[in-house]
Amino acid sequence: MRILVLGGDGYLGWPTALYLSNRGYEVAVADNFVRRQYDYELGVESLVPIYPLQQRIRTWKAVSGRDIGLYVGDLQNAEFVYQMIRDFHPDSIVHFAEQRSAPYSMIDREHAVYTQVNNVVGNLNVLYAIADIDPKIHLIKLGSMGEYGTPNIDIEEGFIEIEHNGRKDVLPFPKMPGSFYHLSKVHDSHNIHFACRNWGLRSTDLNQGVVYGVETEETKQHPHLATRLDYDHVFGTVLNRFCIQAVLGHPLTVYGRGEQIRSFLDIRDTVRCIELAALNPPAEGEYRVFNQFTEQFSLRQLADLVVSTYPGDARIEYVDDPRTEALAHYYNAKHTKLIELGLEPHYLSDTLLESLFGVIEQYKDRVSWEAIRPSVNWRRTHNQATRV
Ligand SMILES: NC(=O)c1ccc[n+]([C@@H]2O[C@H](COP(=O)([O-])OP(=O)(O)OC[C@H]3O[C@@H](n4cnc5c(N)ncnc54)[C@H](O)[C@@H]3O)[C@@H](O)[C@H]2O)c1
Repeated sequence: MRILVLGGDGYLGWPTALYLSNRGYEVAVADNFVRRQYDYELGVESLVPIYPLQQRIRTWKAVSGRDIGLYVGDLQNAEFVYQMIRDFHPDSIVHFAEQRSAPYSMIDREHAVYTQVNNVVGNLNVLYAIADIDPKIHLIKLGSMGEYGTPNIDIEEGFIEIEHNGRKDVLPFPKMPGSFYHLSKVHDSHNIHFACRNWGLRSTDLNQGVVYGVETEETKQHPHLATRLDYDHVFGTVLNRFCIQAVLGHPLTVYGRGEQIRSFLDIRDTVRCIELAALNPPAEGEYRVFNQFTEQFSLRQLADLVVSTYPGDARIEYVDDPRTEALAHYYNAKHTKLIELGLEPHYLSDTLLESLFGVIEQYKDRVSWEAIRPSVNWRRTHNQATRV
């Protein structure tokens, strides 16, 4: 099977490309390196050093004997997307290549517009290219559990049966996300669903939870193969950030009372879920949604776990929540479809945290302390300066 990984230079795209290559698939990656550009813009960098993509690919060839193809370009450029898909002619396209930080999308008007244009236009170009070149190509698209928000009912996997005024239908699950980034994912989901219904495309929309961890079997094989580990307040995801704060002796910054509940998964399960989706493609015209996570925790539960596992002193500091989100709420999301396809989850454990502490310890001198404190505020005031 030929698999094209869009966003192959990113936190998840690179380990996914390595995993699939190691399992014998023909793999190519595409990226425009804009994620590295956000680091320059924000004055931060991955805690674990990451090597240029070309170097990563050369090292993988040396280590494994396997080739990974490379396409450098922007998905917003339709000509690039069409040429790449014609040239590589994949069976499946895994689409990770979006601006993925909620705080980044909430910095100001410019970042909100950029996020939505980049994500929605890139995804539309991919949909059109698949429809024009080969509608049999399976699009595996990364969405987010954040698309649903925190409704006061159980969250289903994409669709819900609704009875209204005596009539019934199965309809897309209502979405009420909490940032312009998450809204871009909702717009993508609608566009993909529409393309499947109208053009007969086949797609899997993976509503993924928050990913933690930094190592997979493949990335561990050589320092050049490492993936990024972000801890800054804009791109750092919560568990990775808590672990880094513990190792640095910085209090674990829990927003509000820490009662917000979110869904999580290990990076080793992300790569496996992608393979499971690729091995079990949907039918022609089918749009399906999998909730891609393995466990749910409140932020306080996670912080307590990190504090109790870390061998040194670690403490929690409750800070004002810069986001507008429900501080305490019901949360129960279904996630059975990937398990039914064969996912055997890695549950969050002390051993995982201990290995993460080890990686962080090794690179802790690279930390920029200014990057840790939250500075993007979801609330706007009328006279807030905004760049136009
Ligand atoms: N990391 C998580 O915890 C998480 C959770 C849920 C969903 N996701 C989704 O998974 C995907 C990957 O996340 P990640 O953490 O690896 O993000 P990342 O930012 O590390 O990687 C995304 C990659 O896509 C590239 N990219 C962005 N826009 C592009 C464009 N227009 N053209 C070409 N390349 C482009 C970036 O340069 C980057 O290398 C994202 O779509 C994200 O929304 C991630």
